[in-house]
Amino acid sequence: MAQTASTQQQMLYLLERPKEPFFIPKGDRNAVFEAPNNEYLVERFRPLADELGTRFGEDAGVRIRVGQITVPDISLPMQLGRNEFFSLFIPYHREMAGRLISVLMGMRNYDDFLSASVFCRDRVNPYMFVYALSVAILHRNDTKNLRLPPLSEIFPDKYLDSRVFPKAREEANVVQEASSRIPIEIQRDYTASDLDIEHRVAYFREDIGINLHHWHWHLVYPFNGPREIVNKDRRGELFYYMHQQIQARYNFERFCNGLGRVKRLHDFREPIPEGYFSKLDNTMASRVYASRPANMVLQDINRDVDQLVFDIQDLERWRDRIIEAIQLGRVINEKGESVDLTEMGGIDIIGNMVEASILTINRNLYGDLHNFGHVVIGICHDPDFRHLETYTPVADPSTAMRDPVFYRLHAFVDELFHMHKRTLPRYTTAQLDYPGIRVTGLEVITKGRNKNELATYWQKRDVDLSRGVDFSPRGAVFARITHLQHEPFIFRIQVENGTNAVQTGTVRIFMAPKFDERKLSMLFRDQRILFIELDKFIVELKPKVNVIERASSQNSLTIPWERTFRDLETNTPGTTPESQPFSYCGCGWPEHMLIPKGAPGGFPCELFVMVSNIKDDLVQQPKGQSACPNAASFCGLRDQKYPDKRSMGYPFDRMPRTGVDILSQFLTPNMMVTDVSIHHFDRTEPPPATDKPKQ
Ligand code: CU
Ligand code: CU
Repeated sequence: MAQTASTQQQMLYLLERPKEPFFIPKGDRNAVFEAPNNEYLVERFRPLADELGTRFGEDAGVRIRVGQITVPDISLPMQLGRNEFFSLFIPYHREMAGRLISVLMGMRNYDDFLSASVFCRDRVNPYMFVYALSVAILHRNDTKNLRLPPLSEIFPDKYLDSRVFPKAREEANVVQEASSRIPIEIQRDYTASDLDIEHRVAYFREDIGINLHHWHWHLVYPFNGPREIVNKDRRGELFYYMHQQIQARYNFERFCNGLGRVKRLHDFREPIPEGYFSKLDNTMASRVYASRPANMVLQDINRDVDQLVFDIQDLERWRDRIIEAIQLGRVINEKGESVDLTEMGGIDIIGNMVEASILTINRNLYGDLHNFGHVVIGICHDPDFRHLETYTPVADPSTAMRDPVFYRLHAFVDELFHMHKRTLPRYTTAQLDYPGIRVTGLEVITKGRNKNELATYWQKRDVDLSRGVDFSPRGAVFARITHLQHEPFIFRIQVENGTNAVQTGTVRIFMAPKFDERKLSMLFRDQRILFIELDKFIVELKPKVNVIERASSQNSLTIPWERTFRDLETNTPGTTPESQPFSYCGCGWPEHMLIPKGAPGGFPCELFVMVSNIKDDLVQQPKGQSACPNAASFCGLRDQKYPDKRSMGYPFDRMPRTGVDILSQFLTPNMMVTDVSIHHFDRTEPPPATDKPKQ
């Protein structure tokens, strides 16, 4: 008996095993797409149509009938081979993906959308297909409530040590019963040895959740495609803020591990001392990802195959023009007019211009600096295609954060933003203070630990590979990974409301290392850009004393592991729309990486809280609640404005007022700082029982 899968799930089967044709059964329920005619099959399979129908149709658990449409013109996206590397950073690929997104977005209703997707699926490059279909699902009204499977399930080869795959294949073949299979363990240190000091922070760079967040963020905020998708509220500013926070977090982790701050990659002619050997297979492209030995030098690019020609000099010109514009406080648009970089709007213009997104104010003049930065580094080992080589992981948003050079490139990008921020008016005490509101207490409570102690340790988890790899026999095969984790904690904040009425304010919680890499005190101007956001929420304050308790899991930037990885098919019928996870909710910093690792014996930090005046925070939203309020700090809200009117990063995004040299001098009565320490315990917890394969 065929089961009914919800319409939503049907669409998602197209993301499964992207290299297998659509007529092969998908998912635990053996879902089969039934094409309306042979035109939907790629040429290779047309002569076999009848045979295929009987062979795969018989054990279909779910039959998905696909309606007929006039097939769309996808000759442009089809120019990239099925087995080629695909990267959004390459303009030619971007153009092809943009066309495919337009085709899918343009379908009038769900049935046509499904039909077009089935038609395109086996014809275009699988990475491009998954990207374009994901963007379309996220942004179409008829599918935007769907939850996308994590990319690590679709393409596990982009996330896991390549050695796991032959072992998993063996396990699947030998142990037929999926529930009896043993997870394949992946060592924590598989990409380098301790000889490479950069390897000390590999647990951060190579974390699956972090890389999934980055991929998902770029799906929600694509820099190319139909304008109505790209042009989201303050997207250029959020590009700056989300990446700035990644940088701050990475530097925090480096300090915890005895490393200094990341050095900017601003001289494009200097050798790059950081090498990176990812140990990833790009199995779709039937190639291993290329590696970058230490001390490579960037070269002019001339690759016909990618339709890509540019020189290091181009990058230098764009860099210098952008810096000049920032220092002049104005940019030149495509009509040759001068546009001021204003206090609130300037950062958004610079974000879109540096990235560059299609919203850039003048691509001819300011170029494509950040995207081409990823490309030029990603192919420095074969800049003219003489070795027929493909890219390193830094040239692909889904893998880029694994490579130490990512943070060097982004430290450079970040500095451009900070350069602009330093030209802006400094916050006056009136812009920081909240008259009548005083913070009188701040502490962190971790169960079983001393006051103001945070604790981290290692946690194992099992991740299912079977959606992404064409194993037969079928059924779950797990890889066992190890990631950083922290013990849950709560913030306890005491706030006095000295007025006679209830007041509303925004609580903003940040944390930074107390000392720099030399163990010396920091100036405020340096420490401010190391502050990582930990939470942000609105509170009502009754007159007199208020005690606010807030659990670590409630924070405004992360999503829990379960949201990142929960099995698609466990969305059983009967769940209410409210309890269904939504695609936007797939965006968010992984909760297990909320707190930096710390150090054995405790790593000293400063925890900062402020309650800001709601009248300068509140945003008038279009009506209706956002379906997904989580992780708004990094990901925004779907169909709504960014939920905080202040400049992103407030109050640390500007240079301090005169007379403020250190953090304590910065504080107004509505702020407070407490010393906390992060203790790292070198123990490893086994995977929770919920990770077990389904019986
Ligand atoms: Cu990014
Ligand atoms: Cu980037």
